[in-house]
Formats: sequence, C-alpha cells, structure tokens
Amino acid sequence: MERKILIPRLDGSESKVAFGSAGELLAEFLPATARVIVIADANIDRCHAELLAPYEKIIIGQGESIKTLHTVEELVRELISREADRSTFLLGIGGGIVTDITGFVASIYMRGIRFGFVPTTLLAQVDASVGGKNGVNLDGFKNMVGCFNQPEFVICDSALLGSLPDREFRAGIAEMVKAAVIGDETLFELFENHSFDDFRKDTELLSQAIERAVRVKAAIVERDEREAGERRLLNLGHTIGHAIEKCSRKILHGEAVAAGMGVVARYAAERGVCSTECAERIITLLDNYGLPTSSPVDSHELQNAILRDKKRRGNLLALILPERVGKCRIEEVEICEKQS
Ligand SMILES: NC(=O)c1ccc[n+]([C@@H]2O[C@H](COP(=O)([O-])OP(=O)(O)OC[C@H]3O[C@@H](n4cnc5c(N)ncnc54)[C@H](O)[C@@H]3O)[C@@H](O)[C@H]2O)c1
Ligand SMILES: [Zn+2]
Repeated sequence: MERKILIPRLDGSESKVAFGSAGELLAEFLPATARVIVIADANIDRCHAELLAPYEKIIIGQGESIKTLHTVEELVRELISREADRSTFLLGIGGGIVTDITGFVASIYMRGIRFGFVPTTLLAQVDASVGGKNGVNLDGFKNMVGCFNQPEFVICDSALLGSLPDREFRAGIAEMVKAAVIGDETLFELFENHSFDDFRKDTELLSQAIERAVRVKAAIVERDEREAGERRLLNLGHTIGHAIEKCSRKILHGEAVAAGMGVVARYAAERGVCSTECAERIITLLDNYGLPTSSPVDSHELQNAILRDKKRRGNLLALILPERVGKCRIEEVEICEKQS
C-alpha cells in the first residue's frame, strides 16, 4: 500500500508526501506529457546518476553560500535559454539547498510553474522539502527572500540516504528529534530504543521514523501554512540555532539546531516550564546521537546575533520551550538591548 501524507494547499489542491522508491514514484507522479527539468548538485549527479539519467538536468553549486539571488538569476537565465515554458515541470533532487532554491525558482519563473522534490538528505526529507517554504539568503541573513508555495509532491526514499556522510545524517536526526519533542513521544522513544548505527543500517526503520517526523510537521503546516501562530513551534531550537549558525560558519544547520534545543531545554527547566528530567532526557538523547547540546559560540557574540533575529518583534522574541517530550509552547521573551 502506498504510504503518503496529503497536505492541503491554500488553493484547495493538495501537496503529496510519499514514502518509497523514488524511481517508481516519479514514474507515477510526474505529469506524463510535461517536459521535466531536474535541478541537482554535483554530489547527487555522482551518487545517484541512475535516478537523474532520464531527465534533462541543470547542476548547481553546493553549500549555503550559493543559496542566493545570484544563483536564482542564473537558473532563470538557464531556463530561458533552454526555452522552458509554463508547461515545464521543475524537479529538485537534492538536499535543502537544492529544494529551497528549486521551489523559489519554480514559484517565480514565468509567475510560477509546477514543481516537485526528491529530497536526498535526511534533513531535507523530514524538514526542508515539506511545508512550502522556499527561498534564499541575502547579505548573510538566512532565508530573507522567498515565498510560501508547496510542491506538488515530495518523495522520501530512505535508500537514497545510504550515500550521505555520517555528519549530514546526524544533522538530519537533530531535526527529527525536534519533531519528536514538538509532537511525537513515540518517535522520541524510537530514538531512545535504537542507536545511530541502527538508523544508518536499517532503511525500513529509518523510513518509519522519517514518516513520523513528517507527520508532525505536516499536521502543523496544515493548520497554519503561513506561520501566523502554531507553525512557529517548528522553530524549536532554531532561534538560538540560527544565531549559532551566524557566528560559526563551520557548524551544520542540524548541529546548530541540536545545540539550540539543548540550550532551550535547560532554560525551560530553569524556568519550571518543564521538569529537570525532561530537559535531561532531551539532552541525553542528542548526546547519544553525537549531537552538540550547548553553544560552541561565545555568549556575548551569540546574544548580539540573537538581537539581529529577523523574527524578533520589537523587544520580544518568540522562544519555543518544551513542556514535556511531545509538547512545546511558544513564549514571548523580552530581550535586553544593552549590548557592548
Ligand atoms: N524550507 C524549509 O522549510 C527548510 C527547513 C529546514 C532547512 N532548510 C534549509 O535547508 C538547507 C540545508 O539543507 P541540507 O542539510 O539538506 O544541506 P545541503 O543541501 O547543503 O546538503 C548537504 C550536503 O550533502 C550532499 N548530499 C545531498 N544528498 C546526498 C546524498 N544522498 N548522498 C551524498 N551526498 C549528498 C550535498 O551535495 C551537500 O554537499 C539550509 O539552507 C536550510 O536553511 C529549509
Ligand atoms: Zn531547521
């Protein structure tokens, strides 16, 4: 039986997230008559050549530094030179960088063309590709330019993750632990009862966990697609995490999110929002998976970076705090401007 999750889009249609073989599901989901152009990066082209083989492709660079308007402009020029038109279907195959850029280009090219994703990192399968946030960075500010627009489909194939380096895999686990803390204690227990190696080796176990994590996100996106309220829960660990990322270029997004979760778990316990046991449980799990649980950045520098958070409203910053594993709350915290 096909395993899938349907997320309603604002226009009444549905975005489909399916779990299984990418090759088979693409044959089923891609519009039969449309011209398909794949956007991918060189790693995907090398590691999964057979998946890309049937399609026309455009290969983009790698890393956060290429997630820019310049890359978007280059891609639009390339689409124009290839005479892509409104009936062309864009397929992003890659990590969150590829899917964030592909979704944005598809949303603006000729005022919007059809698109779908095959995410190839764990982080992109459970987070970046799902929920319709597309965009790029500007002047070092993350995701400053973008739009909400959900893909027609997302195909999560856990077999594609075999070629992913351990460090990237671990970063993806951080986003899954985030989903578990927000809304799925059973998923959290799954991580407690298994090890990093179990998830690396057992694609079926991994696929079940990916599906659970996506369900947490999908349910929240369904209720609050435009992040007016509840969707902010998905920022657990991200307020601090983004600030860490700004200060430390070497850290991966997922690693920064893990560190951010560790920081807010301790803060929530100190404030009595959750028990000390709950905070320890979160920190121990992250630690067992080899993820950081505190900020590697000097606290002064970190504070200044938090002050520049784009989601800050006046002196108020929304922090997501765990109440217990499986339930979080949004709390507006007043921040002090007096920085040196
Ligand atoms: N839109 C959203 O809602 C959302 C949510 C979370 C994160 N993001 C964004 O996602 C981006 C990070 O995504 P990411 O962590 O996937 O990083 P990434 O796209 O940079 O991929 C990480 C690295 O892994 C390589 N790679 C990808 N798949 C591979 C595979 N199967 N085998 C071998 N190598 C592979 C890539 O080439 C790259 O070098 C950030 O820009 C972040 O802002 C977006
Ligand atoms: Zn994230």
